[in-house]
Amino acid sequence: MKTQSLLMELYKNPTAELVYSVLTLDERFSDEIHEFSANVRNKVHDRVIHLRGIIEISNYCIHNCSYCGIGRECSGVNRYRMSEGEIIENAVYANALGYKTVVLQSGEDSYFSAETLGRIVQNIKKKADVAVTLSCGEYSLDEYRFLHQSGCDRYLLRFETSSEEIYSKMHEGQKFQERIQSLHSIYESGIQTGSGFLIGITPDLVSLTDDIMLCRSLDLDMIGCGPLIADPATSMKDFIFPFEKEIAFRTMAIMRIICPWAHIPATTAFDAFSPQGRVKVLDSAANVFMPNVTPLKFKLNYNLYPKKTSVDESAELSFESSKKLIESRGFITGQGYGHSIRKGYFQS
Ligand code: 5AD
Repeated sequence: MKTQSLLMELYKNPTAELVYSVLTLDERFSDEIHEFSANVRNKVHDRVIHLRGIIEISNYCIHNCSYCGIGRECSGVNRYRMSEGEIIENAVYANALGYKTVVLQSGEDSYFSAETLGRIVQNIKKKADVAVTLSCGEYSLDEYRFLHQSGCDRYLLRFETSSEEIYSKMHEGQKFQERIQSLHSIYESGIQTGSGFLIGITPDLVSLTDDIMLCRSLDLDMIGCGPLIADPATSMKDFIFPFEKEIAFRTMAIMRIICPWAHIPATTAFDAFSPQGRVKVLDSAANVFMPNVTPLKFKLNYNLYPKKTSVDESAELSFESSKKLIESRGFITGQGYGHSIRKGYFQS
């Protein structure tokens, strides 16, 4: 099949076979794939890129995921937890800079009960004109409902891999089925649901195809993926990305083609992976960019993996430089909250 008709077929009627075929196309077709993806994104999202300010509220974590640099047993991590007041103040500051969404992210820190998180969200909503996304791990359906009632608009919880076997190997004490159940609960609570996986966590393209297809079947509002980066503080310190780098970028393009409605960020891990990595994802597939607005003194200790860019940049600079970057690539910076368009997409 000619590349254009293969891509059109993938767009109209995505199947695992088609995803696999596109993943395995020769590198000389890469430009065509990325161009197709960019056209889908531009058509559906009107060339608008939404900026979301990330606040890394705590690097405490009860888990010990094999790849993650803030796992419970990682040594040499300076642990911190922002106070409720600091978090709210930081969200108000992000809003004053121009952000219309703040994303509160943390390790799975038992200090942050649903009650505490709910109170923080309520207070942010009282003081700032922002949508709030949480990314703080697994809670029960009732707790997600409470968070929704407290004003939480969106929730990010990656499934990390669709392989049950690899999931249990890499996430000591955690179960894949519970992860998926949590995602269903988030969805059922009425919160806009985001998930995704680590590209390269499984070493073969058949499993990668399964990961991509799981994103599609979960019917997600937001899809966040990034390449796995070796972290020296973990047991995966010698990890080597198992594919050509193009596979990571192509994964994002395929995701865009099969989930045109989804909010897809160009994640920071791409910058650690490849020079100008985030910009490449922005050129091809993403419609969301997530600068870091965590106060510098905390941010330096939130190392899921060794970061290569922006770690010592102030929040103000990261907003301005991101806006400039977006506009220099011919995009428009989103002015609104940038809520999910999934329902509208299916209605039209
Ligand atoms: N490399 C890339 N991404 C990582 N994450 C955690 N550790 C790493 C790593 N070493 C990702 C996980 C998690 C998200 C917040 O960060 O996918 O869900």
